[in-house]
Amino acid sequence: MNIIIVNGSARKGNTLTAIDAFVKGASEKNKIEIIEPDKLDIAYCKGCGACQCYKGCVDKDDTNPTIEKIAEADMIIFATPVYWWGMSAQLKLIIDKCYCRGLQLNNKKVGTIVVGGSPIDSIQYELINKQFDCMAKYLSWNMVFQKSYYATAKDELAKNADIMKEIEDIGKNLQ
Ligand SMILES: Cc1cc2nc3c(=O)[nH]c(=O)nc-3n(C[C@H](O)[C@H](O)[C@H](O)COP(=O)(O)O)c2cc1C
Repeated sequence: MNIIIVNGSARKGNTLTAIDAFVKGASEKNKIEIIEPDKLDIAYCKGCGACQCYKGCVDKDDTNPTIEKIAEADMIIFATPVYWWGMSAQLKLIIDKCYCRGLQLNNKKVGTIVVGGSPIDSIQYELINKQFDCMAKYLSWNMVFQKSYYATAKDELAKNADIMKEIEDIGKNLQ
């Protein structure tokens, strides 16, 4: 499969650690590219609606090449730290800009990885997962996995061998 991972964290911390574990497991059988929104020049969606009349976004920045990659992927992994009970702004920016390709994102395989600094029974994980559930229903996504992890210090997830193995195995066992 052609897999695109959107990394919603700008720091080399837990989200990247989770992504690296996934890539370790999945890279043998799949082609993988990681999108780092903080390194791109992407303007916020203006809601102008022009993209609904022709192919693509009017912004002459990194929007169209980035969303093109997502539209061409077989599987999309959305990875994010929890920021204020929700996904990070970096990830939300990319998702908002996906509006310009809307229904071309239909029927994708999708996985989500969420890392927060509060225990796993916090409502934030439920809120984020529900938001992705709604997108999945709207775009007929096959939600392959939704994983939430609790880690605060940036090297905390890496120290949890069980979680590292779990994520690597998810990558390894993709169908
Ligand atoms: C702006 C900001 C907002 C945050 N908001 C929350 C929050 O609402 N709930 C929570 O559990 N952790 C929150 N955190 C903590 C991060 O989710 C946590 O440290 C996570 O491991 C960061 O992932 P990273 O290492 O990939 O950046 C916040 C951190 C930042 C910087």
